Amino acid sequence: MKTGQDVQNCVTGQRIDQRAFRNTLGHYASGVTIIAGHDGLEPIGFTCQSFYSVSMDPPLISFSVMLTSTTYPRIRDTGRFSVNVLSDTQQEISNQFARKGTDKWAGIDWNPTRNRNPVIADTLMWLDCDLHSEYEAGDHYIVVGQVNEMSPAEWHTRDPLLFFKGKYRQLHEPTH
Ligand SMILES: Cc1cc2nc3c(=O)[nH]c(=O)nc-3n(C[C@H](O)[C@H](O)[C@H](O)COP(=O)(O)O)c2cc1C
Repeated sequence: MKTGQDVQNCVTGQRIDQRAFRNTLGHYASGVTIIAGHDGLEPIGFTCQSFYSVSMDPPLISFSVMLTSTTYPRIRDTGRFSVNVLSDTQQEISNQFARKGTDKWAGIDWNPTRNRNPVIADTLMWLDCDLHSEYEAGDHYIVVGQVNEMSPAEWHTRDPLLFFKGKYRQLHEPTH
């Protein structure tokens, strides 16, 4: 059995190797989202796992994005974005929106929110946000959005696409 002292030894006795850091963080299971916008000419978006809720009043959410993202600066310029939380049938959409420099929207069925941000068909849920604030942190930006529209309750009929230890997973309901 590991004692508190063993845990302390692990944390202090080891340099943080990038690959090991990524593997360790991979044990935090998450959903998968597409952060999307519209620049007036075409829809834009990228796959993003680092999404979470921040505040109820006002309603704020956040995600982090690599400083090297080519899509995020275009979304920032519009001052708004949508969050599309993917359902368990949308693994290919996740892969498609993670490929830089490709036509990410090929074959994607979507409709605009009131703010013209794309909502991808068959998502688990969606949010429409105004860009609230942004913070540079290491090699990522932390982006905060204020939610002004969201999927209605009757939309929420699907199961989530999950990401855990570097692989897509499905939710299995306990049998007992
Ligand atoms: C499952 C999954 C989760 C991802 N999560 C993030 C994330 O949280 N933040 C991020 O910046 N990139 C994330 N990516 C990578 C981006 O989607 C990828 O770098 C994308 O191509 C960026 O494209 P862009 O240069 O068009 O912005 C993720 C990719 C996958 C497959």
